[in-house]
Amino acid sequence: MKFISTVRSFPRAAPPRLAWLGLLAALLFTGAAMPSAFALPASARHRFDIGKDAFLMDGQPFVIRCGEVHAARVPREYWRQRLQMARALGLNTVCAYLFWNQQEPRENEFVWSGQADIAEFCRLAQAEGLWVVLRPGPYACAEWEMGGLPWWLLKHDDIRLRTRDPRFIGAARRYFKEVGRQLASLQVTHGGPILMVQAENEYGFCGTDADYMGDIRQALIDGGFDVPLFACNPVGTLRNGFRPDLFPVVNFGANPDGAFKKLREVLPTGPLMCGEFYPGWFDTWGSPHHLGDTGRYLRDLETMLKMKASFSIYMAHGGTSFGFTPGADRPFKPDTSSYDYDAPISEAGWTTDKFFKTRELFARYLNPGETIPKPPAALPVIAFPATAPAGFAPLLAKLPAAVRSARPLNFEKLDQPYGLVLYRTTIPAGPAAELRADAVNDLGIGYLDGKRIGFLDRRGRTYSLRLAAREKPAVLEILVEAMGRVNFGQEVHDRKGLRGPVRFGQTELQDWEMVSLPLDDKHLGGLAFGPALAQAQPDRLTPGFHRFEVEIQKQGDTFIDLSPFGKGVAWVNGHNLGRYWNIGPQQTMFVPGAWLRPGRNTFVVLDLLATPGTALAGLEKPILDQLRPELDAFAAVKSLPRRRVVGVPVQRGVFPPGGETQEVRFAKPVRARYFMLESLSAHDGRGFATVADLSVTGADARPLNSQRWTVAGVDSEENSGEAAGALNAIDGQTSNYWHSRWQGAQPGHPHWITIDLGREETLGGFIYTPRQGSEKDATGRIKDYQAYAGNALGDPAKP
Ligand code: GLA
Repeated sequence: MKFISTVRSFPRAAPPRLAWLGLLAALLFTGAAMPSAFALPASARHRFDIGKDAFLMDGQPFVIRCGEVHAARVPREYWRQRLQMARALGLNTVCAYLFWNQQEPRENEFVWSGQADIAEFCRLAQAEGLWVVLRPGPYACAEWEMGGLPWWLLKHDDIRLRTRDPRFIGAARRYFKEVGRQLASLQVTHGGPILMVQAENEYGFCGTDADYMGDIRQALIDGGFDVPLFACNPVGTLRNGFRPDLFPVVNFGANPDGAFKKLREVLPTGPLMCGEFYPGWFDTWGSPHHLGDTGRYLRDLETMLKMKASFSIYMAHGGTSFGFTPGADRPFKPDTSSYDYDAPISEAGWTTDKFFKTRELFARYLNPGETIPKPPAALPVIAFPATAPAGFAPLLAKLPAAVRSARPLNFEKLDQPYGLVLYRTTIPAGPAAELRADAVNDLGIGYLDGKRIGFLDRRGRTYSLRLAAREKPAVLEILVEAMGRVNFGQEVHDRKGLRGPVRFGQTELQDWEMVSLPLDDKHLGGLAFGPALAQAQPDRLTPGFHRFEVEIQKQGDTFIDLSPFGKGVAWVNGHNLGRYWNIGPQQTMFVPGAWLRPGRNTFVVLDLLATPGTALAGLEKPILDQLRPELDAFAAVKSLPRRRVVGVPVQRGVFPPGGETQEVRFAKPVRARYFMLESLSAHDGRGFATVADLSVTGADARPLNSQRWTVAGVDSEENSGEAAGALNAIDGQTSNYWHSRWQGAQPGHPHWITIDLGREETLGGFIYTPRQGSEKDATGRIKDYQAYAGNALGDPAKP
């Protein structure tokens, strides 16, 4: 099997083995760089190959000990420090995504400088003795806005992203041409650090079209890439879209033996590589902070090292999703701006316990001649005292001209990538009534004649507002915030804004005005600050920008404490630090010292929920694990109801033990809007139930489109001891799961989860994926079950 490795051989003999070992013993922790084929002298040309059972560097077996670091998530000024940290962790390679939407923020406008200067990042990696595995996309996922895909593609109403849709492929080919222009010369074949390039990302989760993967592969080749091209997938989708000319790697968070056994089914010979090995996980607003299981992480890493398997730690260093770059997990769980990921190298680039344990482990499995340098000096950290606001600029004052249209226009149609849009229309005089939108992507605040009347929330699919009786026509305004386009599944077709029809009583409201509030540099630059806001009142003049002038003696990293504020976005000296939300778990935001200066520094905090007079402080430590659900003003429903499907089961059965996905077909298809899976027992004999993924299939046995799905009911869910809420069962990710409650109360079977499909469908069956991981870890795998399908819901509490 040839993975287009076009590497040329260089006349370079490897020194006798014994000499290396002697030297190694002497120099292991000295940090002095050793001239070896595996350490990366800047100028030398090397030969990298995919051998019969190992990667080969200059003909020698080479284990890739890789870790993921996203240049886009690290201030450019800190790239070298983070790369030195990666080296000191014991890595010999960094893996880097490119995010298309950061390189081509507007159609045909490419940016390769500043934070987007990926070529410089690769050169720095090489200078620091690291190889590079490149993942240019076009799709990345990565909890990044729209998975890295550019929002402007969604201007085409019917575009099919990640398919052979010529509009998609055409744009991707153009993008890869530019990527090649920037990076082809940095391939190992041209003396650079880039060893391999990934085509797409976990495409198997999204489709099975090998020709599409072929198009992506060809676009990379035409872009100038001549190193091995590879494709990554989780264990369960390795065959989807498989091509023998794309080297397969497998992504997993546990159980390397099982995963590699699966990989061998599509890769009988060749080096084994884990493309993503998870030390932690990402956070979403409103769910508990994720901490990885360090013991298992180290055990599994050692297993791979013993097997001489290659791997990439996802994330070695998470960093921060600054600005409007965080995406959202599906169905809709917006990602936090902190991407600490409980990674070995913390968000601020600090060593951690996991860092040192990983380093010690790697030191015992180095390639001949490899050394591990000391970690670089830690960057200075500072704090600053609580500082009162110096000024205020209302968000909804001095508004720019509005765009008019019969129906509400989405952000993409307004040519607006991120931020806010104010939707306005007039409501006739009349009795109290309910207003209902088709959808609000993603959060909305409703005002009637300037008075705040309620919230709209995509997470709970609460799209209605109650309007009081009106003597005369009234002005309705809905301020809609885009909270990051979904980065996974079909849901990446995620157009933002208020989606019509918007019905008021029986009438559809027509004649809308849209005011763009993009929160970009131009918007911020045009703000007119007045005196600080004295007191708040719940009206449209309260959401706004609070300015803070902070004197700083010595430059240093700090963490601003946003917990006293409500919800919005923060900037420092013009840098957009990202979104904050007091529901947590993240309560502070990382502020790079490189973006501060001795003397006066200007912070601007937009607060949509307005808590006037609040002071801003800088802390020396982050707060990433404080949930405050009681503060969630947008969430109409604070915890999921226990609703069940009324009726008799359409199916009873027993799931086999183990983690294999189970497909169940009903005796005959049923028409229903609600589906419920009920556990009567678990394989571990305990009282819990867990589900990694649940999808419902049609009469053709294919999964139904889940875009409208919500969880209509669940008997219980664990949302404090760990982020194991019921929504995890329908987000399409098998690396997280729903767990019935275990902290505090521990209700026993039956446990149930009820899915609202959003409309009546023809159901042919369902697909249940048990909790993944080894037998010991995977509590709650369901044994005896019943499945229900129906059009009515009942609350078990009520008879
Ligand atoms: C997947 C993706 C990554 C990232 C992880 C979760 O495996 O490939 O980009 O989204 O999940 O962090």
